[in-house]
Amino acid sequence: MFNLNLNNLKNCRILDCNAGASSFTTHMHKRGYDVTAADMLYGPNPEDIEKITSHDFKTLMDAHKGLEDKVEWGFFKDLAEMMAYREKCYKEFYQDYKNSFNHRYVPEKLPDINFPDKSFHLVLSSHLLFLYDDRLDYEFHLDSIREMLRVSRDEVRIYPIISINGKGKHSTYLKQIIEDLSPDYYLDIQPVKYQFRRGANEMLCIKKINRNRDSCGLVTYDAIKVEGK
Ligand SMILES: C[S@@+](CC[C@H](N)C(=O)[O-])C[C@H]1O[C@@H](n2cnc3c(N)ncnc32)[C@H](O)[C@@H]1O
Repeated sequence: MFNLNLNNLKNCRILDCNAGASSFTTHMHKRGYDVTAADMLYGPNPEDIEKITSHDFKTLMDAHKGLEDKVEWGFFKDLAEMMAYREKCYKEFYQDYKNSFNHRYVPEKLPDINFPDKSFHLVLSSHLLFLYDDRLDYEFHLDSIREMLRVSRDEVRIYPIISINGKGKHSTYLKQIIEDLSPDYYLDIQPVKYQFRRGANEMLCIKKINRNRDSCGLVTYDAIKVEGK
């Protein structure tokens, strides 16, 4: 989803924003990486989270029936494989969450993040910004991304950059976000291997121009020109 090179992340602190019931933090922690998950879903009672995530999983299963014209098979063979993968992820998440609430899993509601400036080297965000541009306004997008940049030392990556109702096209907010941030940051659109929704095979990378000496060595990108999709 984010083209991560694990060799570059050994000394990095990573924040997975709006991480939800995903198992990225679980897996990375098991391998010894420093990852924190943040989401407004998280709370002190693990049973509540289990109820919400299993209910959301059933809703997701129903929502994906009849979606064949909106998905691209390849990364996943078919719907059954994708749903089995998602089920495994949320169950792994829940096991880890039970033991690590307020440690690796912290409640945060965008557009605010309660961490000091530059707390993380890399901040990731998937399946919220751009995708749900039908219900989250431009101001929310800009404020949330600026907040992610505030808590990151080096880079923010956002996946995907299509809109849920856009038939695989870039979100209409993308161009404006790039225009608003490009005076202060390097912005780059990168292809990614992960894909489920049609057109969802790119991420937006936003890098700080003035990098710290002790940054974790993430790859630098040139500033870009954005062309419509
Ligand atoms: C579709 S899920 C994506 C989860 C995960 N990032 C993934 O890619 O599988 C969207 C997540 O965003 C969270 N969310 C929605 N609005 C939020 C907000 N304002 N602040 C923090 N999290 C939010 C939801 O609770 C949900 O877990």
